[in-house]
Amino acid sequence: MIVLSVESSCDETSVSLIRDGKEILSNVVLSQIDIHKEYGGVVPEIASREHIKGITYVFEEAITKANISKDDIDLVAVTKGPGLIGSLLIGVNAAKAFAYLNDIDIIGVHHIAGHIYANQISEDLVFPLVCLVVSGGHTELILMKEHYDFNKLGETSDDAVGEAYDKVARTIGLGYPGGPIVDKMAFLGKPNYKMPDLKNIPGYGFSFSGIKSHVINLVHNAEQRNEEINKEDLCASFQNAVTDVLVYKSKKAIEEYGAKMFMIAGGVAANKGLRAKIQAEITNVKIVVPEFKYCTDNAAMIGVAGYYQYLKYQQKDDMKLNGSSRLNLE
Ligand code: KG4
Ligand code: ZN
Repeated sequence: MIVLSVESSCDETSVSLIRDGKEILSNVVLSQIDIHKEYGGVVPEIASREHIKGITYVFEEAITKANISKDDIDLVAVTKGPGLIGSLLIGVNAAKAFAYLNDIDIIGVHHIAGHIYANQISEDLVFPLVCLVVSGGHTELILMKEHYDFNKLGETSDDAVGEAYDKVARTIGLGYPGGPIVDKMAFLGKPNYKMPDLKNIPGYGFSFSGIKSHVINLVHNAEQRNEEINKEDLCASFQNAVTDVLVYKSKKAIEEYGAKMFMIAGGVAANKGLRAKIQAEITNVKIVVPEFKYCTDNAAMIGVAGYYQYLKYQQKDDMKLNGSSRLNLE
């Protein structure tokens, strides 16, 4: 079964072709990062316009690279939410037009299901599993007892971890997106700055707005006193505190639910500090991390998730399929 998938929920325009939910025939990602960089973050109106400019080219490139005919495609899968509504609508409408013209079934896929299924590209999922989802918009622990069955154990009550990374980077003038730069700087410094304790939130909940404000205050106070901030040490301290709580709560969930597999998903899954801490501290369970290229937004992960969603529910959408900026994974 060949799936053509489309992702456009934020600032990446992407189309992929996948055989049997595993073999990536092509995965074209057109990133807008260089355009949004200038503004220090994603500008929704510009994102929509860039998706419109790029989407046809990305469709053509993905089909050409996969070296297949349109007649070989059995299913179209597209991110229907959550995300920026203007961005989502470009992908959804392009996918609907393609499916309609070529008489192919279409399904809408949850963006986070895609991030989770990015792991299935490298390793077959084994259940029960716990997945730590860490992206620019989400921070949550998910328990899966079987394919396409998502139980949210807990989530952040305020900022997502990627959002906190981006804000910290902006505060110390490191540019956008901040996550990868803070990650790099953290390895050059020592965790000498005192950070708030993030582990005192009950259950599987998280909160990152406190540590974000703490870093902002620390930098502003230093500026007022004309003191130098050691950026490397600050990044190391922030990353240490954040990865500590992520690993601590993940371990708790793995033990409580007897998980056979532990995975991470989302843009922050690319974080080298987080990966190292997981490898060092999480034992007695198979650990799976997505390949770097499948951590940040891409259509391949949507195609793999769409394949499993279609297999499980045998349901398709119709031409009324629409984008939703908010969408529940469960
Ligand atoms: O999953 P994603 O591509 O988009 C959303 O669905 O949100 O995640 C983007 C987020 C950004 O906040 C970015 O700073 C963060 O992932 N990120 C990282 C790293 N690479 C990307 N954060 C920490 N360390 C990294 N190496
Ligand atoms: Zn994402």
